[in-house]
Amino acid sequence: MNSVTEIKNGRLYFDGCDTVELAKEYGTPVYVMSYTEIAKRLTELKEEFTDKYPGNRVAYASKAFCTVGMYEILKKFDACIDVVSGGEICAAEKAGFPAEHVEFNGNNKLPSEIDMAVNYGVGRIILDGLQEVPLIEAACKKYNKKMNIMIRITPGVAASTHDYIVTGKKDSKFGIPLEEDVFMPIVKQVVESEWLEFTGLHMHIGSQLFENDAYLKALNVLMDWAAKIKKEFDADVKEVNFGGGYGVTYINEERKDYSFFMDPMMELLQKRADEIGIACPVAVIEPGRSIVAEAGLTLYTVGQIKDIPGIRKYVSIDGGMGDNIRVALYQAKYKGIVANKADEPTTEKVHLCGKYCESGDILINDMPVPASIEMGDIVATFSTGAYGYSMASNYNNNPIPGVVLVKEGKSAWMVKPQTYEQIIQNNVVPDFI
Ligand code: LLP
Repeated sequence: MNSVTEIKNGRLYFDGCDTVELAKEYGTPVYVMSYTEIAKRLTELKEEFTDKYPGNRVAYASKAFCTVGMYEILKKFDACIDVVSGGEICAAEKAGFPAEHVEFNGNNKLPSEIDMAVNYGVGRIILDGLQEVPLIEAACKKYNKKMNIMIRITPGVAASTHDYIVTGKKDSKFGIPLEEDVFMPIVKQVVESEWLEFTGLHMHIGSQLFENDAYLKALNVLMDWAAKIKKEFDADVKEVNFGGGYGVTYINEERKDYSFFMDPMMELLQKRADEIGIACPVAVIEPGRSIVAEAGLTLYTVGQIKDIPGIRKYVSIDGGMGDNIRVALYQAKYKGIVANKADEPTTEKVHLCGKYCESGDILINDMPVPASIEMGDIVATFSTGAYGYSMASNYNNNPIPGVVLVKEGKSAWMVKPQTYEQIIQNNVVPDFI
């Protein structure tokens, strides 16, 4: 449990709010996000990265949790954002996010998304496709704007995490391959373009990482290419983006401080820049999960309970894989608690399962619960703030739950829950049926 989570009078409190009362007031299932926890992480990033190394930037990876309210919080902390779609750009525009603080990533940016990004005036586009240059140039020409370009490399380093969230190994759909005859012609196109400004290199090696060696290895590879670029085109890598991926606590993983990753990275960056004979590049990081994961929990109401004698007990809740696909997708593990019986001893183990029509719709295997667990109880699952809401689906036409923001005992909607009507609002019946 983190600093905003406490148990009082037998109930679970989150950022000063009684979660049982939240469930009553807002209904379930519902995502709850703690402003205090988000602010704490953004403050750590300021202290350990942007204040400590002036000029550096934090570009929050929107994909972890993208809402207009989240962008408003990030604005307050002077953070930048990394976006990967027209939808994220649209939310940023709605929040009035300063365009120059937006960095556009993605392995297949659509021409329409590139058009949107250039029109908005985003600060940087991270090149991640072999045929992307002419698309960006066309949009720049249309709007008569130049664009800063970072080039995402595939460093060929395998980070140790779930295979689906490894991105830096050679066999990956992300990044430009580091083959002389593939990579250098792309750099040349950027360096020589009248519309593009070669700004630097980008890497992202994976997610939910707790060790620094893969980052350092990848940075060394990146700087080898910075040296080649300097030599061949006399172009300086002015910025280096280290990507995101800093691990968080779901069960009992030991979360590392940002400085654990950042200090050795900055030291290596400086050393390699000195060797190449360029100024130390500005460093940018793209943390997503480490800012919002532990700032979120999800509240559910217990419904049917099925006891299969001698086998196990299934406790069903009113959400499941539609609001948290991570268990089915990555075998992710979560902790949970019966929020209205938070200080009762947990003497039983049950499978906490969702209401979706999939056998794999189990949120927690062998969750310890009080023997008194019954219909109507409120269950909270922890560390659901990242990639929960943002990966939610309408499977079985279940609505996507709303998000409540809590802060020191106050609460308010950040995203209202979807209605049935909204799920089917774009349904049309072709007249030839
Ligand atoms: N930058 C880039 C280019 C990325 O692709 C990602 C994550 C990040 C930053 C942020 O990584 P983070 O700090 O959040 O670990 N949906 C998965 C994770 C996939 C992440 C994809 N890219 C999950 O639920 O674990």
